[in-house]
Amino acid sequence: MFSHSSQLLKRAAEYLYVLRAERPGLVKDRRLEEITAEIESRGTYEQTPEELSEAGRLAWRNSIRCIGRKYWASLQVRDCRGLDSADEVFAALCEHLALATNGGRIVSMMTVFAAAPPGGRGIRIWNDQLLRYAGYPQANGSVVGDPGQVEITRVIRALGWRGGPRTPFDLLPLVIEMPGKAPRLFEIPRSLVLEVEIAHPDYPWFAKLGLRWHALPALSNMTFEAGGLRYTAAPFNGWYMLTEIATRNLADEKRYNMLPVIARRLGLKTDNNRTLWRDRALVELNVAVLHSFEKAGVKMVDHHTASKHFLEFEAYEARQGRPTYAEWSWIVPPLSSSTTPVYHRPYESRELRPNFFPQNPAWRDMYSQAEAVEGSRCPVHGL
Ligand code: ARG
Repeated sequence: MFSHSSQLLKRAAEYLYVLRAERPGLVKDRRLEEITAEIESRGTYEQTPEELSEAGRLAWRNSIRCIGRKYWASLQVRDCRGLDSADEVFAALCEHLALATNGGRIVSMMTVFAAAPPGGRGIRIWNDQLLRYAGYPQANGSVVGDPGQVEITRVIRALGWRGGPRTPFDLLPLVIEMPGKAPRLFEIPRSLVLEVEIAHPDYPWFAKLGLRWHALPALSNMTFEAGGLRYTAAPFNGWYMLTEIATRNLADEKRYNMLPVIARRLGLKTDNNRTLWRDRALVELNVAVLHSFEKAGVKMVDHHTASKHFLEFEAYEARQGRPTYAEWSWIVPPLSSSTTPVYHRPYESRELRPNFFPQNPAWRDMYSQAEAVEGSRCPVHGL
């Protein structure tokens, strides 16, 4: 008990120190005394709306895996800490989808729900992103849909979802778990989901592959840590960088694995590495995705421009007297890496706070908790 409180107070004080340096006007003189008293009397404290929203922007700035950080100061933070039912949380997520998608002119946004109680389990969104496509394993070992989502698809079906129409792009329902309550399923209204069908500017056959992707990348399973508080449900989004979809999601062997099909349509021999069929198919797939997003009016950045923006971010940070920490292997784009300036620079990786941290998949935590309590059963049957 004491250690939770003292750790919380230490982190709160550290954050106030950072905030005072960044935004002197935001922190009033006796704020630390106030927080101390609140922690002493009830074991936790509440951040002011300004402390919360500034922490959101700093968490983005401190995200060492993100190449898009030049725009950190523009993050819009929605304060939804007062919501205490799954229905209200779902409604707020729907609103987030609408506001952030904004007809394709994507707005960087985070919606913050109530912090976890000290040492306890907070609100959880079980999906790793608000928008995800189901993965259905087939008898022959292949997968219809996104092979990266097979496990959560199984979990959601164990919770009672019957599955979608079994296309490669069935949208998964959201799983929302409120503290002490069983997780609940929510279908996202289609009208809130902007998707782009992928076509190629020069190859008419490309559209017939039936590829598509959603416009909004909204991470929903990370903890947002600010001033010692853990916001276990705080989904946030930016806009896509081209290569996330075209070089990884649709191309990775363990995802949609489209390169062999595309290469054959391009007339390349896929039984010989030396035709460079993977490389050539990959470029055309990237051309198609960029062209399609642009035509649909959906904001997306290509990897060359994003790398340039990252260098501008670094320069800005340096002018403010701050070093830029980064995880090189995440910052360097997976296509034509050495043609981007970030490839040629070393980066030190160091995680400052506030920040976003990964958390264990919610159902695994829950399973081990249920196991630990004698006589109780895992709420997700069949896992
Ligand atoms: N790489 C993830 C995806 O392909 C999205 C991660 C966040 N990306 C972003 N541009 N904010 O869905």
